[in-house]
Amino acid sequence: MTSGYRQTYDRWRADPQAFWAEAAREIAWIRPPQRIFDPEGGVYGRWFPDARCNACFNALDRHVEAGRGDQAALYYDSPVAATKRAITYRELLDETATLGAVLEDLGVAAGDPVLIYMPMIPEAIVAMLACARIGAVHSVVFGGFAAKELATRIDDAEPKVVLTASCGIEPGRIVEYKPLLDLAIGLARHKPATCVVYQRPQIEAVMNGARDRDWSELVSAAKAAGKRALCADLAATDPLYILYTSGTTGAPKGVVRDIGGYLVALKWSMSAIYDVKPGETFWTGSDIGWVVGHSYIVYGPLLHGCASVLYEGKPIGTPDAGAFWRVIQDYKVAAFFTAPTALRAVRKEDPQAKLLERYDISSLRTLFLAGERADPDTVAWAQKALGVPVVDHWWQTETGWPIVANPVGLGILPIKLGSPTVPMPGYEVRVVDEAARPLPAGTMGSIVIKLPLPPGCLPTLYRQDERMRESYLTEFPGYYKTADAGFIDEDGYLTILGRTDDIINVAGHRLSTGGMEEVVASHPDVAECAVLGIKDEIKGEQPCGFLVLKAGVNRPPEEIEKEVVKLVRDKIGPVAAFKMAIVVPRLPKTRSGKILRGTIKKIADQDPWATPATIEDPQALDEIAAVLEARAR
Ligand code: COA
Ligand code: AMP
Repeated sequence: MTSGYRQTYDRWRADPQAFWAEAAREIAWIRPPQRIFDPEGGVYGRWFPDARCNACFNALDRHVEAGRGDQAALYYDSPVAATKRAITYRELLDETATLGAVLEDLGVAAGDPVLIYMPMIPEAIVAMLACARIGAVHSVVFGGFAAKELATRIDDAEPKVVLTASCGIEPGRIVEYKPLLDLAIGLARHKPATCVVYQRPQIEAVMNGARDRDWSELVSAAKAAGKRALCADLAATDPLYILYTSGTTGAPKGVVRDIGGYLVALKWSMSAIYDVKPGETFWTGSDIGWVVGHSYIVYGPLLHGCASVLYEGKPIGTPDAGAFWRVIQDYKVAAFFTAPTALRAVRKEDPQAKLLERYDISSLRTLFLAGERADPDTVAWAQKALGVPVVDHWWQTETGWPIVANPVGLGILPIKLGSPTVPMPGYEVRVVDEAARPLPAGTMGSIVIKLPLPPGCLPTLYRQDERMRESYLTEFPGYYKTADAGFIDEDGYLTILGRTDDIINVAGHRLSTGGMEEVVASHPDVAECAVLGIKDEIKGEQPCGFLVLKAGVNRPPEEIEKEVVKLVRDKIGPVAAFKMAIVVPRLPKTRSGKILRGTIKKIADQDPWATPATIEDPQALDEIAAVLEARAR
């Protein structure tokens, strides 16, 4: 079959507004858009400026009204809690409408931020949808962050209410959320009025006076009183959520998602990119704390009337490397989406994919990968083992849905290993030099997207229009800077080579080395430091800190290294996976004082390296090489 991609992309290019007007017909609007795009609105224009809608209505009520009430909306599968539960669209709607009423009773109104700090349990999705229902703006914080990171987000979002649970479950360890939340609120300037706590059976959280309310009690009381929240009538340009992501400094960026554009883009992507039909099962093995979870565990599949799998477990160890195949079999998953790192972990445990023999995964049509570079070796392994196309696609928290993909629903394009394929409608992707001049095919440069960004992408950063302009729109006038580098080949296929800023990608998690450096430098014995992402077989990259101690410090370096590792875990969280800190005599620098990060990284990665001409003292590189060599022994 020939792909309809080219024709579709050209149709978008010929008339973007007509393209999105047609896609918008798939959404149930309260007031359909009369205007499709307002170039004068917001930072770079706004989509669907006069339309009104509700995301929760489109995700739940609409399907129940259409007769899908008894179909599974969620399959909750938790090997770590030894629980499995199917939840129908009607049940999910009932729970959501009730929690929405609870939030309203707590004084939450449309436009109010609500912070959600919860593990991968159905109540977390109910929490997100309940906010969407009443027009509250949710901000989900990933459970692997430490109290200080949570405090930063509380201060930025200033939530009236926090929704949380007593704990998360990591293999071999219960992560108590409530003490972390209490600590974060203690650290934060802003004090939320109420915390609603869902008590999990694994551990009971200690409640803290009148501020803390028991989730189940509030929900039971609301049910007994027959309270249900109605879907709020909201502007398409109103915010649906804020999702914090690593910026180049310690202060995370609050990516804002507006309602209407997001609904239109996600709905389009479910059939055109992911090739799934309403009623089929879609599984994204990520976490609701990340954008991939927001878009393709929660909103995308539910908008489309799919059953979405909510998996609280790991690719390996819960109980083994066959976990993915079991879930695909048990819920007849049609499309599965995960990060390459998860496949690398599975492959390491089960290189011959022998565990696959135990399961029937014939329901699976496509495997999608994103979050980090999909190395050709892993893609080829998965393709051979699973016998289905393995589709890499590239996007960011900021865009909310794929920028570059292989649109399987339009007819799959030939797969080139190492490339996430071609730009989706809405995105005019260019590779440019420093002066924003397009570079010829095959030449590496900065990847930018011509403005305006399509529906679904961030309209701005939360309460920071100026930071939005500075971070993304100023360096390449007329374009959005992705901060990724790469090239486009003669066939229009893109290859991503890495970030142009200090962001690294550890096990598919986006982290700022600058943020880690701020923490490392705060250790009283550290004079200066550099944190770099170095190669890791499973996680892609792993942060490594190089520290120079202050003159006169004569404690054992190993002691300080351990303290620094603990400090990063305590301040940023276990998700930083910061386990390597190395004391070095000095950091190699250029004559103008810039740390030679690139060369240090090459040495640590055991890649070929040369002494840069601008180096202040070439000896400094040899010293680093010697320290690393001694460690490796
Ligand atoms: N709450 C609390 N802690 C968490 C957590 C959570 N939700 N998620 C991870 N952590 C902890 C882990 O327990 C680990 O702690 P440890 O240092 O005590 O072992 C630490 O954070 C690092 O986690 P991670 O980098 O995920 O490593 P891992 O060894 O636990 O698992 C993989 C490795 C590859 C199996 C795992 O990273 C994975 O499945 N990744 C998928 C990536 C993904 O979903 N990306 C999202 C974008 S698509
Ligand atoms: P996040 O905002 O957490 O989704 O991270 C986005 C970043 O992850 C991108 O800017 C890329 O650097 C990287 N990334 C995501 N998907 C891919 C991919 N398919 N290939 C290469 N890098 C990717």
